Amino acid sequence: MCGIVGYLGTKPAYPILLKGLKRLEYRGYDSSGVAIINNDELEMFKCKGKVVNLEGIVDEKAMTGTIGIGHTRWATHGVPNDVNAHPHMSENSELAIIHNGIIENYGPLKTELIKRGYTFQSDTDTEVLIKLIEEIQKKGKFDLFEAIRFALKEVVGAYAMVVINKKNPDQLIAAKMGSPLVVGIGKDNEFFFASDATPIIEYTKNVVYLEDGEIAIVDRQNGLKIRTIHNKTVKPFIQELEMNLETLELGGYPHFMLKEIYEQPRSVKDSMRGRIQVNTGTVSLGGMRDYLDQMVNAKRIIIVACGTSWHSALLGEYLIEDLARIPVEVEYASEFRYRNPVINEGDVVIAISQSGETADTLAAIKLAKSKGALIYGICNVIGSTIARESHTGSYTHAGPEIGVASTKAFTAQLTALMLMALVLGKEKGTIEAPTFQRLLVGMDALPDKIEKVLKTNDVVYSIAEKFKDVNNMLYLGRGVNFPVALEGALKLKEISYIHAEGYPAAEMKHGPIALIDENMPVIIIATKDASYEKVVSNMQEVKARGGVIIAIVTEGDTQVKSIADHVIEIPITESILVPFLSVIPLQLLSYHIAVMRDCNVDQPRNLAKSVTVE
Ligand code: F6R
Repeated sequence: MCGIVGYLGTKPAYPILLKGLKRLEYRGYDSSGVAIINNDELEMFKCKGKVVNLEGIVDEKAMTGTIGIGHTRWATHGVPNDVNAHPHMSENSELAIIHNGIIENYGPLKTELIKRGYTFQSDTDTEVLIKLIEEIQKKGKFDLFEAIRFALKEVVGAYAMVVINKKNPDQLIAAKMGSPLVVGIGKDNEFFFASDATPIIEYTKNVVYLEDGEIAIVDRQNGLKIRTIHNKTVKPFIQELEMNLETLELGGYPHFMLKEIYEQPRSVKDSMRGRIQVNTGTVSLGGMRDYLDQMVNAKRIIIVACGTSWHSALLGEYLIEDLARIPVEVEYASEFRYRNPVINEGDVVIAISQSGETADTLAAIKLAKSKGALIYGICNVIGSTIARESHTGSYTHAGPEIGVASTKAFTAQLTALMLMALVLGKEKGTIEAPTFQRLLVGMDALPDKIEKVLKTNDVVYSIAEKFKDVNNMLYLGRGVNFPVALEGALKLKEISYIHAEGYPAAEMKHGPIALIDENMPVIIIATKDASYEKVVSNMQEVKARGGVIIAIVTEGDTQVKSIADHVIEIPITESILVPFLSVIPLQLLSYHIAVMRDCNVDQPRNLAKSVTVE
């Protein structure tokens, strides 16, 4: 996690860094800081907490320097405080560094540096790195690039880092291994560094995504040069960003999470755009084209993911098994990689990740790739590491998701998985033609139906008012609504800090039923499908124990209405498509409850959007 930015150009660096840090704050908000060469001095400001605290300690008018670096931190080594905040300086205060990642062997390196007389202010691994660079530079009389290169050879771990040098106000040097780093190329030797493209987009659309083992030097005279850690020259591959600035602004909404919930009719449509044609009865996913045979003939598919993306993966299992009859296994990426999994050549591994940077998911696909599996990445962030590490894949095209709690990325992932299941099913002949066509029509109608669900917002709001002070909540669903129950519970706990559990409705009687009383509200997704009657029985069991029920039901349902205390109606759709609709009220409910509890909805405590530590 952590967000890093750098600027070298003709404008004052501070406002550009500050805005960039605000854009990257989703990556961590334990502390922030900047270092700028201002009137020949390397000036550093840093403090605990959000970027807004940093604004309070910097006199913007006095900061006219045109070269600087900035950092927003998600603490790994060392508690969140002013001292552990980045940047970190060299012993002689001439170099400063910002770093995203973890230097795993920082302990022995630090011991060695202490023996050589270095002192350490912070508990961070990053301070060790800058002092190692300083020591190598001093000892070998190297220039900064060489010193960084040699230091990185001694380092084990992950990093995206930028170094600023007081003695050279015309140059920044950055390096990448494991953590993401983008270089923006403006006009007239103006350069930007950032953990993702969001701080860069308003200045330039031309970017270079650095690869692992690359070191980028930007210089007012010599422009951008990329060399590897082994000192080989690399020709920069300049790409044009497709991002739109509006998607990074609140646009009148009080929070990004609410904006992103409301964007879902559009984001689901964007995920389908150009991939589905109802009138001709066709579905295609560009990423599958060259690998179709292998995917159709796969003996099994393994889906790896974390968090909300793992919930999409569970739904992917239902969709692919049901429509394409290929066995699917779903794994937490973090468990998969550490349990010596059986992976055979020809297995297909789908990695789902909004950010495309989740360290565990990345490590899982690297492992699967090394054993001969085909890797199919479903990512939202274009150019992200998982997207690039995959053999092929599909972007979800949900647009930037800034709220830490994932909402529109989830429904966009479901869209991609549904399209994949349809393509596989059609190719394998496991879907009957009328069913295939009905599902296409159903998919096509989803954006309007999501729009309709969003109109239940007032009902959801009044339910939130009633339950905002509870300490626990249980979410139940069956079939495709079981992963939705898990997702609803995750949304509530992560942003409102209310303990919530998701369960398959029928599992309730195997344990959780013991928890039910009048203080344990139970949310039950009871839409009309094959297990409807069974779910209604589960509701009766809750009622019989004094439980309070909030039910998500299909429009026009009367049976559940007579049992439940509160109901939220969603439109009729194909059973397999219900999750696209049933998840929306659950997203809204957690949003409203969190706002009513005064929680920071977009930046919940202890979390970060991009989990780049293992
Ligand atoms: C929950 C949430 C997280 C992420 C998880 C994986 O709202 O956002 O659980 O889903 O950290 O992140 P990605 O999808 O970026 O790999």
